[in-house]
Amino acid sequence: MSDEQAAPRALNPLEAREVNRPQPGHVLCNLADIPDGATKAFNFGKGFEQYKMFVLRRGDALFSYANDCPHVHGPLDWRPGEFLTEDNAFIICAMHGAIFQIEDGRCVAGPCHGHYLSAVPVAVVDGRIVVVER
Ligand code: FES
Repeated sequence: MSDEQAAPRALNPLEAREVNRPQPGHVLCNLADIPDGATKAFNFGKGFEQYKMFVLRRGDALFSYANDCPHVHGPLDWRPGEFLTEDNAFIICAMHGAIFQIEDGRCVAGPCHGHYLSAVPVAVVDGRIVVVER
């Protein structure tokens, strides 16, 4: 059988999630829906193929990442939509306690030290938070 006739390869779970990732131009919500200092989670698709992400707001700045810890690829939030340490200074993974910088998603403590959260670039367009090109 030639390569052209081979059956399509099944996607692994991480690849399957990417299929549900929102595309550039997708409107997530209004900026006003996320108060200053708050986070908001978004889920696309269902089951194991669900793509999860979240947006943090700090004044006019937005930080957006996949809700997918680089340690073992579990969700980060310790309660639905809750991603921050008690002092709101860092992102924390509820699974094994990895700590990430808000500004760049770099893990600064825990089992995936030095690894990064996967950024989901967003911009504010006409008062709405929109996914933009990577
Ligand atoms: S899954 Fe996040 S620290 Fe282990």
